[in-house]
Amino acid sequence: MRSLTFRRPDDWHVHFRDSVMMKAVVPYTARAFGRAIVMPNLTPPVTTAAMAADYRQRIMACVPEGVAFTPLMTCYLTDHTDAKDLIAGHKAGIFTAAKLYPAHATTNSAHGVTSVDHIMPVLEAMAEAGMPLLTHGEVTRAEVDIFDREARFAEEILAPLLQRVPKLRVVMEHITTQEGADLVLAHKDRMGATITPQHLLYNRNALFQGGLRPHMYCLPVLKRERHQLALRKAATSGEACYFLGTDTAPHLRHLKEADCGCAGVFSAPVAVAAYLQVFAEENALDRFEAFASLNGPAFYGLAPNDERVTYVERPARIAEEIEVDGAGRLVSLFAGTAAPWSQTV
Ligand code: DOR
Ligand code: ZN
Repeated sequence: MRSLTFRRPDDWHVHFRDSVMMKAVVPYTARAFGRAIVMPNLTPPVTTAAMAADYRQRIMACVPEGVAFTPLMTCYLTDHTDAKDLIAGHKAGIFTAAKLYPAHATTNSAHGVTSVDHIMPVLEAMAEAGMPLLTHGEVTRAEVDIFDREARFAEEILAPLLQRVPKLRVVMEHITTQEGADLVLAHKDRMGATITPQHLLYNRNALFQGGLRPHMYCLPVLKRERHQLALRKAATSGEACYFLGTDTAPHLRHLKEADCGCAGVFSAPVAVAAYLQVFAEENALDRFEAFASLNGPAFYGLAPNDERVTYVERPARIAEEIEVDGAGRLVSLFAGTAAPWSQTV
């Protein structure tokens, strides 16, 4: 049985939501990860430093006793973001980064940015302050094929933006394509990319395997196999610009198994095991710690976690469902099957 000991990992992209949902999901991330970048797409979105400070307290109240976990907060950019509040929030240690949701790209993005032209002064101020911009990298025009939206964003929005604001540091979140991986690598001195477990494990066939599979649906949507293989190569390459970010995105079962189902894969309970499976299959376990525990902190200018954790290649049964108090149930990645690795310490 293989076993791997490495520094406690961090998750550089999570959705915790709020209230009873947050209470149900935070413990899974807090037990497995030292820190997490928390997405701000609540209703209403987290748009000010005061809102982020409150939200951070509500998250901390859900962390189990004896678990050391630090949420890192982000600001939801809108066409009207106040650059002063944003930068002051960053300097005060409240905002680690700011998130660009193109308006209507995904869950709770209606208040997102309608054009980067509208937030140029904000982006200039972020570049000056060294505050990273996190992007949901998809164009939103309805006429663009959904499988091409990330590649078009890289070409039409991100590449010109990198030229326009040369000092801006950018994370392309949840990359799903060869084009995304290539753009980040070409600018690795100031770009990073998170990669989710589902985009490493699956391609778009998984959405239709034996029928329509709502729990495999997330945005950006799973792509064809050649992109999956490109992502597996990127994640296991040892390049410092690629790091772990699950995009764990819980939605209640009945809202995913619906006529117009929500986008998001809830992976927090099995995330580390899922990534380990990929690295084991790629014979790259020696590069796992860089991806999971070193590259992310290096990009954000933080020290890696000191604590070590150990996982063994012993299958662990995963529950069919997880209860969310009074609201419904969640179906996690690997639900009703086994996760191939489990944590020992
Ligand atoms: O699948 C997704 N779910 N993609 C996103 O960008 C947002 C997320 C969510 O908040 O549910
Ligand atoms: Zn996300």
